[in-house]
Amino acid sequence: MKLKTKNLLTLGELSSKEFLGLIDESIKLKKELKKGGNKPVLKNKTLTMIFQKPSTRTRVSFEVGMYQLGGHAVNLSSNDMQLSRGESVEDTAKTLSRYSNCIMARVYDHELLETLSEHATIPVINGLSDTFHPCQILADFMTIKEKKKKLKGLKIAWIGDGNNVCNSMIYGAALSGIKMSIATPKGFEPDKNVVNSAKKSTDIELTTDPFVATKNADVIVADTFSSIHNLDKKRLQKFLPKFQVNDKLMESAKKDAIFLHCLPAKREQEVTSSVIDGPQSVVWDEAENRLHTQKALLAALIHA
Ligand code: CP
Ligand code: NVA
Repeated sequence: MKLKTKNLLTLGELSSKEFLGLIDESIKLKKELKKGGNKPVLKNKTLTMIFQKPSTRTRVSFEVGMYQLGGHAVNLSSNDMQLSRGESVEDTAKTLSRYSNCIMARVYDHELLETLSEHATIPVINGLSDTFHPCQILADFMTIKEKKKKLKGLKIAWIGDGNNVCNSMIYGAALSGIKMSIATPKGFEPDKNVVNSAKKSTDIELTTDPFVATKNADVIVADTFSSIHNLDKKRLQKFLPKFQVNDKLMESAKKDAIFLHCLPAKREQEVTSSVIDGPQSVVWDEAENRLHTQKALLAALIHA
């Protein structure tokens, strides 16, 4: 499949059909891999990866994904690049476009990605910014589809910080017709513009009560209270104990609800061990699905 958009920076660039198509394609690629291997559809193609922040899953799943599709990935820490000595994002974009077929970047400021994508002649993928994490949501919705066999009509409860993952998840909910109830402390709500745009396509509820969010929920989602760009320890006091996903909160959702977390997780902070290591947790499938969904994305963005 091909996508209309050149870049994936928020998830909001996709049409519903494209988003659901990517998930179905990811499921096919996963089956194909497990049957013996994927076709080398990205032979001789190269992905350049830039990291301003640490990563385990994003780094490895993109690199392995390129390899499994017959291509190659180059990994760059932004500190090792001339970017760190003042070379402009514009010049970096133009240079990398002459060597590789796609750029994936994990950055602090989302605007850096916008500048990169404006000046790159090749696709740019957001591997996480302070405001969005679209690749995570592809994997999350693939996992939900695998477990629940459908997306439309389900309800997600987001508990905690209305952060980058939450913003992209709201786009995912709108694209797939999933309802979302988001429980955050006051002042930690997700991006208003994202919420308002998603409300045109699905129900998005904002609340300060986690038990309101989990009522009739099929999926419970937690993420760290202190994202890489928000490490202030005082933040924790605003979240604990009310916004911790524990057994009691899980019991207030549907009996067959599943638990998602993008990882890395802090046990006994945003989630108890009993939940993340318990029977309703699907976090390892979710982490694995980063690989399959990003392969579908790369194959759809990188054209011959
Ligand atoms: N979920 C996620 O993006 O993990 P990493 O920070 O390890 O890449
Ligand atoms: N919200 C977290 C996600 C990590 C994958 C962060 O930005 O650090």
